[in-house]
Amino acid sequence: MNQINRRTLIKLGAFGLAGGYALSQSNVPAKPTFPEPPVLKTKMLKPGVLEAEVAAAPSQVNIAGRKATLLTYGGSFPGPTLRVREGDRVRLNFINRLTEVTNLHLHGLHVSPTVDDPLAMIDPGQSRLYEFTVPRGSAGTYWYHPHIHKEVAPQLFAGLAGAIVVEGPLDATPGVKEAEEHLLVLKDFALVGSRIAPHNPMDWMNGKEGNLVLVNGALRPMLRAQKSTLRLRLLNASNARYYRLQLEGHPLYLIATDGGFVEKPVELSELLLAPGERAEVLVRLSKEGNFKLQALPYDRGSTGMMGMGGMQNMMSAGPSQLETLLTVVAPSKPRPLPLPASFAPLERLDPAKARVTRRVVFSEDMMASRFFINEKAFDAGRVDFTGRLGDLEVWEIENKGDMDHPFHLHTYPFQVLERNGVAEPFRSWKDVVNLKKDDLVRIAVPLRDFGGLSVYHCHIVEHEDRGMMGTLEVGG
Ligand code: C2O
Ligand code: CU
Ligand code: CU
Repeated sequence: MNQINRRTLIKLGAFGLAGGYALSQSNVPAKPTFPEPPVLKTKMLKPGVLEAEVAAAPSQVNIAGRKATLLTYGGSFPGPTLRVREGDRVRLNFINRLTEVTNLHLHGLHVSPTVDDPLAMIDPGQSRLYEFTVPRGSAGTYWYHPHIHKEVAPQLFAGLAGAIVVEGPLDATPGVKEAEEHLLVLKDFALVGSRIAPHNPMDWMNGKEGNLVLVNGALRPMLRAQKSTLRLRLLNASNARYYRLQLEGHPLYLIATDGGFVEKPVELSELLLAPGERAEVLVRLSKEGNFKLQALPYDRGSTGMMGMGGMQNMMSAGPSQLETLLTVVAPSKPRPLPLPASFAPLERLDPAKARVTRRVVFSEDMMASRFFINEKAFDAGRVDFTGRLGDLEVWEIENKGDMDHPFHLHTYPFQVLERNGVAEPFRSWKDVVNLKKDDLVRIAVPLRDFGGLSVYHCHIVEHEDRGMMGTLEVGG
């Protein structure tokens, strides 16, 4: 080696070699930078009227630092975020470029079930226009995913999920407005080579979880905060995995649930997100350092399989393991904003005014891997509940199974009144509520604005696919 080359190498050493070294250590897990999901391009036809297009298609994408063939919206995982404002008229054209039937569900948005039709079937090569108005007062975090009965679990697991962000006047609340905003789509994957691992019989029973527990498709990314107050929009887009979230050294200040803002921030040491649920939290970084956002172990119930002797261990789900989801790097000399004192008062739904009280009972037949509501498996041709537009209803939901089941209702956001006889500590709009074994939850459901056929189901989507869904027909 001659002098010049050696000197060049020595010079490079100060900068380039660290990179070269990292490249050669392909077995050392890289610390990827936190990736923000892409935003769906919209065209403004006139003020307040937006047009957008999204296609479902198989695509090669990078997840957990490697190439994988997924089913995606818009060629990415997560799918592109639809960002709209309260009051917007949206014309969303959805194209099916898969080789199988699918559709699009606008999870949590209070729009007509004739538009967001849970039973719509869109054949390969076909498209469908979803035209709707974003409701006032709904600023928050929602999402979209497929809704073909018996196919939701494999299609969602393969990557078909994206967020919907609704902006509104409450986003301008001091303490929220200046915060650094990030969207975290929490979804696990399992790969065989570069392909999605197919469902096995156990997955159809427990709900499929993957060993790659990712945030926006990245494995344990680093979120280098520029500001000292973060606003995290959290979406559990997993088939069956629960996230019991905790940030090292920091409480989470809950500012929004499924259906938007709560009345005032709620301080939490941890936050449980069941499949389908969303939450928004403020994080106040007051010291320098690195802090892990973790999913703590959570036991969502064992499938037991009593009497199967030696197979029992293999059969039970057991508690999940602790997972690090990402690391927040605080800025230097952090100075977090004061917490907002309040947002806006939420409507108080008076259960005494309810005209109807319904019962919804979850049960399981583990041996057959079948799941029921009120002892019946889903039948698209059967109307289970008939409601009257404008009525307030109380639903009593009970879990007589052995596992947790997250209850979800389309079209009509609800408020949880009480769990097991205990009043909810604070009011909020929800569209998913988790039930542990033996739980009894009462919710108040206003049947407003839209009639038509809606569904309610368990949001462990394998359970939905295997029967745990019912229909609600609302007429004038
Ligand atoms: Cu997100 Cu009917 O579901
Ligand atoms: Cu939904
Ligand atoms: Cu379930």
